[in-house]
Amino acid sequence: MMSNKLLEIKNLHAGVAGREDKGEILQGLDLAIAPGEIHVILGPNGSGKSTLMNVIMGHPKYQVVEGEMKFEGEDLQALKTFERCRKGIFLSFQNPEEIPGITVENMLRASKQAVSGAPVKIMKFRKELKAAMEELQIDPAYAKRYMNVGFSGGEKKRNEILQLLLLNPKLALLDETDSGLDVDAVQIVSSGVRKFHNENNACLIITHNTRILEQLSVDKVHVLLSGKIVEEGGPELIQKIDKEGFGFIRRELAEEAGEN
Ligand SMILES: Nc1ncnc2c1ncn2[C@@H]1O[C@H](COP(=O)(O)OP(=O)(O)OP(=O)(O)O)[C@@H](O)[C@H]1O
Ligand SMILES: [Mg+2]
Repeated sequence: MMSNKLLEIKNLHAGVAGREDKGEILQGLDLAIAPGEIHVILGPNGSGKSTLMNVIMGHPKYQVVEGEMKFEGEDLQALKTFERCRKGIFLSFQNPEEIPGITVENMLRASKQAVSGAPVKIMKFRKELKAAMEELQIDPAYAKRYMNVGFSGGEKKRNEILQLLLLNPKLALLDETDSGLDVDAVQIVSSGVRKFHNENNACLIITHNTRILEQLSVDKVHVLLSGKIVEEGGPELIQKIDKEGFGFIRRELAEEAGEN
């Protein structure tokens, strides 16, 4: 039977490559995302959220020890990072890299070319870039600046969403794209995500704030704690955690452990 899932992760165990002494960071994680859905991962600092994103992208720093990851039914682990990008997976980094010597325009055009495997015509691309920059209220002069060099924290995050709009992937992994943004910028980024999202693509959003989610229709929330998904629910879980923190989940887990 054809799976209708875009991303399907089963029993994923992963850690830092070559550092078995560090132990597993992800300890048996299951996740399934269908086209059209928006999923959110909440979890305390150090619970493994960014690690999960990196493992989905195939970052060489991390090693899968056990489990299965499929994208449109295809085994992801057999694919290199650039092949995963070509399949339509995109990661907005928690800490975007500065790339001296390459302008935003050249970087984005080269990425688009690499991902699509076809030449991207310069005039047409410039038009698209200009429209996307307007949409995200980015000064057009930034197109000629070196990628993220000297950008403020918020400008870097906005630049990630610019990439998202131009590359138009099937699955957008957004790792705290809203952190460090002022109140207006959160709205701009959130509307950028809304503009990107449609019934054929999906978003997996990591955040510590609820504001970016207010304008998005979230389908499912997963709570990650110590490398495991320990609680799942609908959008109501966001409000509950926002009010009460992760304490009630920790207590539930402690009670369960006590019963066993
Ligand atoms: N390359 C690495 N080398 C050593 N330890 C690592 C590495 N990457 C992640 N870890 C460890 O794995 C754990 C999970 O880190 P991760 O960055 O995934 O957390 P996170 O949930 O994204 O946290 P935050 O909310 O602070 O971004 C942390 O304890 C971290 O120190
Ligand atoms: Mg992180």
